[in-house]
Amino acid sequence: MKEHLNIAIDGPSGAGKSTLAKALAQQLNIRYLDTGAMYRAMALFAIRSGVSVSDEPALKEILQDADIRVIYNERGQRVLLCGEDVTDGLRTQELAMGASTVSTHPCVRQKLAELQREVGRNYDVVMDGRDITTNVLPHTKHKFFVTASPEVRAERRLKELRARGNAEETLDRVLADIKARDHQDSSRAYMPLRKTDDSLLIDTSEMTVEEALNTLIHAINEKEAL
Ligand code: DC
Repeated sequence: MKEHLNIAIDGPSGAGKSTLAKALAQQLNIRYLDTGAMYRAMALFAIRSGVSVSDEPALKEILQDADIRVIYNERGQRVLLCGEDVTDGLRTQELAMGASTVSTHPCVRQKLAELQREVGRNYDVVMDGRDITTNVLPHTKHKFFVTASPEVRAERRLKELRARGNAEETLDRVLADIKARDHQDSSRAYMPLRKTDDSLLIDTSEMTVEEALNTLIHAINEKEAL
C-alpha cells in the first residue's frame, strides 16, 4: 500500500496554523483537515444533548451517538454532525472554549484521534491541531510547531472578529481568552499541547504568511529529498 504524505502541524490558538495549513494544502493540491473543527462539533453535540462539556461520565454515554464526519465539497472541508452541515456555526468563542474543555477527556480524544488517523491512512493531508505531532501522526517525518506571542495572536484574532462585524470585543478580553485556552490546552493531563523534539518551530510573530509558508515548503522538500 502506498504511504500517504502526512503533514502534522500543532500550536496554540491563533498562531496562524490554519491559514498556513490551508495554503500549504492548496499549494500541494492535497487535503486539509482542521481537527479543531471536530472538537468544536463535539462541544456543540454535548450542548445540544444537554450535557456539560466537563461531565466525563455523561459524555461517555452520548459519545457513540456523536456522529462527526468530515467531507470535502466545492466549499472545502465541511463538518457534518449527525448528517447536518454545522461548519458555519463552529467558530464562536463559546464553542472554542467548549472544545477546549471537551477535548480534555480521554474518551473524546480517542474517538476523534482515530477518525483523524483514518484520514491520514487514506489520503495525502495537512492536519493541524494540538496533538497531531504527538498522538495522531507521530510517525510522520513532517512535523511543525507553529506559534506566535499571545499579544500578536490576540491582535490577529481581534482583527478577524472586527472583520466579521463584531465591534464589541476588546483586546484585553481576547487576550484573556487566548491565555485561558493556552493554559487549558497545555496543562491537561492527557495529550497536552507540546512541541516534540523533532518538530520544526516556526514563530510567526514577525513573519508574513508567505514567509512562514516558504519555511514550511522548504522543510518539507528537504525531508522528501532524503
Ligand atoms: O484549533 P481550534 O481553536 O479550532 O481548537 C479548538 C479547541 O479544540 C482547542 O482549544 C483545543 C481543542 N483541540 C485539541 O485538543 N486537539 C486538537 N487536535 C485540535 C483542537
